[in-house]
Amino acid sequence: MNVHRLGFLGFGHVGRALAELLERKRPELRQRYGFDYGVTGIATGGGGYIAAEPGGTLRPEAASPAAPVAGRRCADVDAWLAAARPDVVFEMSPTDARHPDRAVAHVRSALLAGAHVVSANKGPNLQAYRELADLAWAAGRHYLFEASCMGGVPIFSLFRDGLPAARLQRFRGLLNCTSSVVLREIERGGDLAAGVARARALGVAEADPAADLDGWDCAVKICAIGTVLMDTPVPLERVAVTGIRQAPVDEIRRAAQSGGQIRLVSVVERHGADVHATVRPERLEPSDPLFSPEPQDIVGVFDVDVLHGLTVRGHRLGADTTAYDLLADLVRAVTRPVPPEHAKPRGRDSISSQPITLHTS
Ligand SMILES: NC(=O)c1ccc[n+]([C@@H]2O[C@H](COP(=O)([O-])OP(=O)(O)OC[C@H]3O[C@@H](n4cnc5c(N)ncnc54)[C@H](OP(=O)(O)O)[C@@H]3O)[C@@H](O)[C@H]2O)c1
Repeated sequence: MNVHRLGFLGFGHVGRALAELLERKRPELRQRYGFDYGVTGIATGGGGYIAAEPGGTLRPEAASPAAPVAGRRCADVDAWLAAARPDVVFEMSPTDARHPDRAVAHVRSALLAGAHVVSANKGPNLQAYRELADLAWAAGRHYLFEASCMGGVPIFSLFRDGLPAARLQRFRGLLNCTSSVVLREIERGGDLAAGVARARALGVAEADPAADLDGWDCAVKICAIGTVLMDTPVPLERVAVTGIRQAPVDEIRRAAQSGGQIRLVSVVERHGADVHATVRPERLEPSDPLFSPEPQDIVGVFDVDVLHGLTVRGHRLGADTTAYDLLADLVRAVTRPVPPEHAKPRGRDSISSQPITLHTS
């Protein structure tokens, strides 16, 4: 049986949920997919880069936030990769959309060290998607990131595996629970502060919910979706963003009283050779596929050249469902060959130099 060495870059909510899920799924991974795993490296901001002793493994399931893991401390990510020798690296460090260099360097170094990379972090794709995809292709390794957007609802693998040769024209989605929970509270007579308190009680709001309320969390996600699925860079600064603080309270309540709802809607669409992205509060009617009686729903509607209105919906997404996306990518990474269409370099270089003749009758 193959035993794959795993490295965790980041060991917070998602990393811990992944460690638990892996432990729970170990028998299934062995029986159905014929592999086992051992964790040979864990890195955190506070704990640094820790690698197992040669030939040994770390026990992430026994770690606590105060005392992450015992092992050898390495100077940096390259030393850690050399010591832990992971076959698969999970990038689960914090997303810093404006300064993603550290996470990009993590992915680049891991691929160059010969590991597959499975990422929950959307930052690297905002800055360097094509470079990293091409690097993975050249290295013969997978670079997979299903967990990075709508964690728990498959969108990237849906495209890659389920929609070959389809071209995404437009994606429209509800990508942020906190804003929906706050808007629901306002519909019911509460205010913004009560909505934030409700979102915190449900465990969906960040300590500082500004990025949720001002639309920047959605903007980062829609940029990542457009950049990857339309294979065209969508810079954050080009997204037209309006948050829910700008939505008038009386309009929010009027919409609800007349059977509709105002929600924070993110859109990315092609305009000729260009791609435009917006995030703004919109009135939704019950016939709209984004309309959600349940404010903890995350929804996406894809319009592709061969299908219209393909809708995916997830409920109560969080660290656990994101961990499942990571596990699913792990299974893909270690059981499938790197598909050439996944990261094929675009443009003239990718066109076959062999002339071919088409015979038509
Ligand atoms: N939570 C979700 O539901 C969810 C869903 C989809 C995607 N994501 C993405 O998944 C990633 C992890 O999310 P999370 O909720 O687990 O975040 P988190 O709880 O804040 O954990 C982040 C982890 O990264 C570590 N870290 C900080 N700087 C690091 C560095 N330089 N090198 C390596 N590790 C470092 C932190 O260590 P210290 O605590 O010691 O600083 C912590 O262990 C983020 O990119 C997030 O956007 C999360």
